[in-house]
Amino acid sequence: MGCGKIGLLVIWVSSVLCLACCSGSQDDYLIDCGSTTNTSVAGRVFLADTSSYLSTPEKLLANTATKSDSSSDDLPLYQTARIFTGTSKYTFSVGSNRRYWIRLYFFPFVYDTYNMSTANFSVSTQNHVLISNFSPKAGSAMKEFSENVTSDTLVITFAPSSNSFAFLNALEVVSVPNELISDDAITITPSGKFKGLVTQALETVARVNMGGPTVTSENDTLWRTWLPDQNFLVENNLATNVSKIGAVIYAKGGPTKLIAPASVYGTATKMNSDANPQYNFNVTWEFDVDPGFQYLVRYHFCDIVSISLNQLYFNVYLDSYLVYEELDLSTLAFNILGAPYYLDVVTGTRVGSKLRVSIGPSSIHTEYPDAILNGLEIMKMNSSMGSLSGSVIVSNPSSKKNVAVVIGASVGVFAALILAGVFFLVYRRRRKLARQGHSKTWMAFSTNGGNSHTMGSKYSNGTIASAGSNFGYRIPFLAVQEATNNFDESWVIGIGGFGKVYKGTLNDGTKVAVKRGNPRSQQGLAEFQTEIEMLSQFRHRHLVSLIGYCDEKNEMILIYEYMENGTVKSHLYGSGLPSLDWKERLEICIGAARGLHYLHTGYAKAVIHRDVKSANILLDENLMAKVADFGLSKTGPEIDQTHVSTAVKGSFGYLDPEYFRRQQLTEKSDVYSFGVVLFEVLCARPVIDPTLPREMVNLAEWAMKWQKRGQLEQIIDPNLVGKIRPDSLRKFGETAEKCLSDFGVDRPSMGDILWNLEYALQLQEAVLVGDPEENSTNLIGELAPQVNNFNHADTSVSAAQFEVSSVDDLSGISMSREG
Ligand SMILES: *[C@@H]1O[C@H](CO)[C@@H](O)[C@H](O)[C@H]1NC(C)=O
Ligand SMILES: *[C@@H]1O[C@H](CO)[C@@H](O)[C@H](O)[C@H]1NC(C)=O
Ligand SMILES: *[C@@H]1O[C@H](CO)[C@@H](O)[C@H](O)[C@H]1NC(C)=O
Ligand SMILES: *[C@@H]1O[C@H](CO)[C@@H](O)[C@H](O)[C@H]1NC(C)=O
Ligand SMILES: *[C@@H]1O[C@H](CO)[C@@H](O)[C@H](O)[C@H]1NC(C)=O
Ligand SMILES: *[C@@H]1O[C@H](CO)[C@@H](O)[C@H](O)[C@H]1NC(C)=O
Ligand SMILES: *[C@@H]1O[C@H](CO)[C@@H](O)[C@H](O)[C@H]1NC(C)=O
Ligand SMILES: *[C@@H]1O[C@H](CO)[C@@H](O)[C@H](O)[C@H]1NC(C)=O
Repeated sequence: MGCGKIGLLVIWVSSVLCLACCSGSQDDYLIDCGSTTNTSVAGRVFLADTSSYLSTPEKLLANTATKSDSSSDDLPLYQTARIFTGTSKYTFSVGSNRRYWIRLYFFPFVYDTYNMSTANFSVSTQNHVLISNFSPKAGSAMKEFSENVTSDTLVITFAPSSNSFAFLNALEVVSVPNELISDDAITITPSGKFKGLVTQALETVARVNMGGPTVTSENDTLWRTWLPDQNFLVENNLATNVSKIGAVIYAKGGPTKLIAPASVYGTATKMNSDANPQYNFNVTWEFDVDPGFQYLVRYHFCDIVSISLNQLYFNVYLDSYLVYEELDLSTLAFNILGAPYYLDVVTGTRVGSKLRVSIGPSSIHTEYPDAILNGLEIMKMNSSMGSLSGSVIVSNPSSKKNVAVVIGASVGVFAALILAGVFFLVYRRRRKLARQGHSKTWMAFSTNGGNSHTMGSKYSNGTIASAGSNFGYRIPFLAVQEATNNFDESWVIGIGGFGKVYKGTLNDGTKVAVKRGNPRSQQGLAEFQTEIEMLSQFRHRHLVSLIGYCDEKNEMILIYEYMENGTVKSHLYGSGLPSLDWKERLEICIGAARGLHYLHTGYAKAVIHRDVKSANILLDENLMAKVADFGLSKTGPEIDQTHVSTAVKGSFGYLDPEYFRRQQLTEKSDVYSFGVVLFEVLCARPVIDPTLPREMVNLAEWAMKWQKRGQLEQIIDPNLVGKIRPDSLRKFGETAEKCLSDFGVDRPSMGDILWNLEYALQLQEAVLVGDPEENSTNLIGELAPQVNNFNHADTSVSAAQFEVSSVDDLSGISMSREG
């Protein structure tokens, strides 16, 4: 009994304290425009509209208007208005370099000869246009903006359009706590980071309390209003409500009540799993946005649905892009169930007028399939011209086949994006993501054509672009030059048919690999375009990411994330790098298989890589494998079943003989090549080594011979001798063997291969965990076999010579036979 009362008292005291401290803040201004009396709303006092803050060209140009027919459900603030018939300014003294909310209340009514529904005006501050050519619709509207004010005064200017007038019912200028907008966010760049939020002017487009009722300004910690999500849900029946406000625990170091109140974090919309036991669906919300702007999307999460930690894993999408894979609130929220967490995501410049936010179940952790969202805020970001307004014409692409247009169209970008993406990538997210999720995030870098005032720049040529699969940044040549120390020869890390690959550092510190194509090579150009298109559409942890490209001055430059550990091939032979152990090799194969599996299945049409080889599998600093080099990729097999392929492409030693014979391209050609890679990884020798005795030259043939005899252990990498568990090797050998089946139909899918490799890994690990004694007695190749005594050191020299003509790789020869 006493407890409840004390609790209430505490809440009451703290809210009184809060009101006292916040509304009393010296530089907060609440004005009830046009009113001669102070107006109290939800415990806050809006001051009478004396003209002390207002300057107008002539006093009379700012009329005060009082509504004649006030109905009871109108806010008191809407009873009066101030009408501006000429440009007028409100000037407030504020703290500089602080963020302020500017809330403008509009409720048009008719006063004298002024029909406010016909008003048409613009509102701006010193640095930003907030609204332009605005005509408030009937009914009330509150528009909320925030900006970081750089001087010690904030001047808000109301400018009527010609032959019209402006009006305002109420005005709030309220300081925003510093913690509310941090400088960085996840974005769609490969580095996943957006920097520079603190300088952005923002307009609140949506603020939603998922799974709960409206949270009114008086119940919010900062007088925000949170609307229920019902009207935004795309399919109501897929979602259900949870409410457990008491379960919210604001953890130290995490979001505070100021970020969002418990009434927001304590309710959620989740997957309606009861109605759909298959669990295989997303919950989606849709919002109206203005094309031509970027948006900051803040996802609020709080695990109020799990019974214990580490139950809930789900995916978070923006449009069709995976923003966060396997979001694990337990880890992100300090291992405290019910601790809030939020995720800031910056979108690309929008093309369409709908923004979709989805959550869906994990495809890996399937024990407790569920997904939740507790709150969502969508904030429009100012354009490169500092404006939050302005109409942008979105054009549809012309279908010209002009090369420059095609490239531009597939990746055309605006200055803002370039600036944002390339020059602002500097900083780390303050709240470091505990998992690697941010590095696998990608969203649409949608592009846009048309009215250039939001996108003009010396870098952007305003290329018209199609909606949909447009990603990547066009990077100015100057920036590429800087990054590579003007293509310093000593920074070259690879050479191939396509050109040279340089190591580089963007001026934000991001390490990159810069591939500079030889000019005017027609094949190179086709591959350049394919690569951009492919890498722009496919985002995956196990596919190497494209950071940008440059096609200025006839250049064909591709800029990738830098892969610290180079190619898998270099770790196998010929480079003197330390040998990888069996577990590392298995994990690399599994990673690459995941990447290929995603290519084959992750999209409506399968994509065939066509040049799978150990030199096209790269390793990051943690030896995580990523598939690279999509220059030859094709969607298929539909395309090539109807039309006979015009060219057989790939690399010697990896090429699917069936594809070579029949010129019919399917995913199974990649599977064949991958099988060769598996043997290469096991045996650590070049796939073609002409220095060896004839029957040994071709690794695929040689290894298959031993595999069929059941004596694969005879030819494995000497470094692995005695270190592979027989079961693991058997599984691995069988898998590779199946990949090399003569006929594509007999080869497994990448999914099967993935499964088998994981199994091989388990078999390997089982021995270490299970029976340590077995280690020494039951491992492969105790008697060092004679057969594998070919000379590893010697082969590298000839192999390197042999490879000069390859595309950009340092391995098997790429070949191309036009048919
Ligand atoms: C409105 O409130 C302010 C301060 O709270 C006070 O100084 C002012 O006199 C009041 N004005 C009217 C018209 O009551
Ligand atoms: C405002 O911007 C300046 C840089 O222009 C920055 O130093 C400051 O921290 C920002 N303030 C807030 C509250 O974001
Ligand atoms: C005010 O203007 C609106 C929009 O033009 C119009 O629909 C409405 O009838 C007008 N009201 C009056 C009283 O003239
Ligand atoms: C406001 O006036 C401008 C021209 O002065 C016009 O282009 C614009 O369409 C008008 N806006 C509305 C909402 O009527
Ligand atoms: C969810 O909550 C909202 C607001 O409280 C309510 O209107 C809606 O009917 C609820 N939906 C379900 C499925 O319970
Ligand atoms: C504020 O919250 C309390 C309890 O959470 C609720 O009883 C009250 O109705 C809310 N007030 C408004 C205006 O929503
Ligand atoms: C969820 O939405 C994403 C993005 O649109 C899509 O890729 C994914 O397949 C969807 N998942 C399910 C289970 O429908
Ligand atoms: C927003 O305006 C600021 C200047 O106030 C500018 O630095 C920034 O680049 C603009 N944002 C975008 C996305 O262009």
